[in-house]
Order: sequence, then C-alpha cells, then structure tokens
Amino acid sequence: MARRKMIYEGKAKIIYEGTEPGTIVQYFKDDATAFNAQKKDVIEGKGVLNNRLSEYFMTGLNQIGVPTHFIKRLNMREQLCRQVEIVPLEVIVRNYAAGTMSKRLGIDEGTQLPRPIVEYCLKDDSLGDPLVTEEHIAAFGWASQQDMEDILSLALRVNDFMSGVMMAVGIRLVDFKIEIGRVYDGDFQRLIVADEISPDSCRLWDIETGQKLDKDVFRRDLGSLTDAYTEVAKRLGVMPKTSTPITKPTLIN
Ligand code: TYD
Repeated sequence: MARRKMIYEGKAKIIYEGTEPGTIVQYFKDDATAFNAQKKDVIEGKGVLNNRLSEYFMTGLNQIGVPTHFIKRLNMREQLCRQVEIVPLEVIVRNYAAGTMSKRLGIDEGTQLPRPIVEYCLKDDSLGDPLVTEEHIAAFGWASQQDMEDILSLALRVNDFMSGVMMAVGIRLVDFKIEIGRVYDGDFQRLIVADEISPDSCRLWDIETGQKLDKDVFRRDLGSLTDAYTEVAKRLGVMPKTSTPITKPTLIN
C-alpha cells in the first residue's frame, strides 16, 4: 500500500491525507486513554470495533439527513472522511446524570434529566478540556451565534437518533460527546458531525442490568473493554455474532 502522509496523531486515531483533495483517512488505533491520558493501555481489537461502530452511526445519520464527515470505510481500521476544520469544542449531550456532571452538581449517577442537556468543553488537553459557556465561546470567537444554533440542532438530532438506535437493542444512551467540523462548499460554509461516534465517547448502559458497555469499563477497571464493545457491536448487528475477528487484526502498514 502506498504510504500516506500523516497529518496528525491523536490519542485513539491517526489522521492521514486522503486519496482525493478535501478528504482524510482516519486510522483507528487500539490505544485507550482516560483522565486526560494519565491512564493508558492498548486494548487489542478496540480500533477495529470503533471503526465499524462509528461507520454504523455516521452512515445512519447521513441517511436521515444529519450531515457527517463520513464517506466510506476503507478496511478494518480505516475510513475515508471529508476534511473539515474542527470547531475547538467538545459538544456533550446528557440524558442521565453521570461522570463530571454528577460530581459537579451532586446528582446521583443514573438520574434521568428533565430534558437533554447540552454542554460545551474547550478542546484543550493541556487545560483538561474545561467546561465553557456560550459567553466564552462568543467572546473568544470559537464559534459564532449562528454556529451555536447549528451545533445545538445537530447535537440534539444526533441524540434522538443515537437514543433510538440504542433503545432498540436494550441500551440506554446516558451521554455522549461529538465534535463538529466546518466545511466550505463554494462561498458557503456549513457545520457537520466529524471525528467519531463510538463507545469511547458515549456512556452506554444495559437497560435491564445497568451493565456498562462503554469506556467507563476501562476508566473504572470493570472488566474487558473489548467484550463490552463487542456486545454493543453484536446487538447492533455490526459484527457477526459468532466470529471473533477482532482479537488478531491484520495490521495495515
Ligand atoms: P464527562 O462526564 O464530562 O467526563 P468524564 O468522561 O471524564 O467523566 O463526559 C461526558 C461524556 O462525554 C462521556 O460519555 C465521555 C464523553 N467525553 C469524551 O469522550 N471526551 C471528552 O473530552 C469529554 C470532555 C467527554
């Protein structure tokens, strides 16, 4: 395979230049990090699962008219996407209290929220992705007022879609994070869903048992992360129910 030019290496993915102008390739690594990369491990097969799962969610979103950067999956670990300018915000949608919201506001984990709550964090690892308000976002010019309206609408549409998809397979979507990209079509610019949507960036609980099927399994040492993600993939029909191709992935050079 021809060597690609690397654009950026993040905690869980590597971004390469795409085959066509205006495209990039996302390579999903097996690396898992938590607590701003203070906890690290390699979880064999995670990248293969997240590539598949993110493909599944992004394809579904594209099909219902929620624009995303996803173009097509290329192989076990790579997908072709539109190149975007990432808006420097982590957009979090919460349906139930958990994680930092529970800590900050003293609400028990698992408490249903009166309505979905959208939060924004500044994408800056050196600061630990601090929570910011729309006042900060407007004052520092990270996004315009129109952008914020579009981002809120995208976030809530993703929430409705993801909640429904998960509910159908007995999983509660507690919260999730998305990133937003800016693309230019001629003189027009618009915002689309970018990055990935996977159990790395969602909280997913089994509706019956409350079992965690997301990255909290790694953060809180609750068992095998691969087993948890495989369970999500199996329920969604993303991975064949019997085969176990994820334990020994073919590495791409
Ligand atoms: P949150 O509870 O704020 O933080 P933590 O996961 O550290 O307890 O996270 C809410 C959801 O958003 C959760 O599903 C994890 C996801 N998230 C990310 O994937 N990356 C991030 O940088 C942040 C801030 C959140």
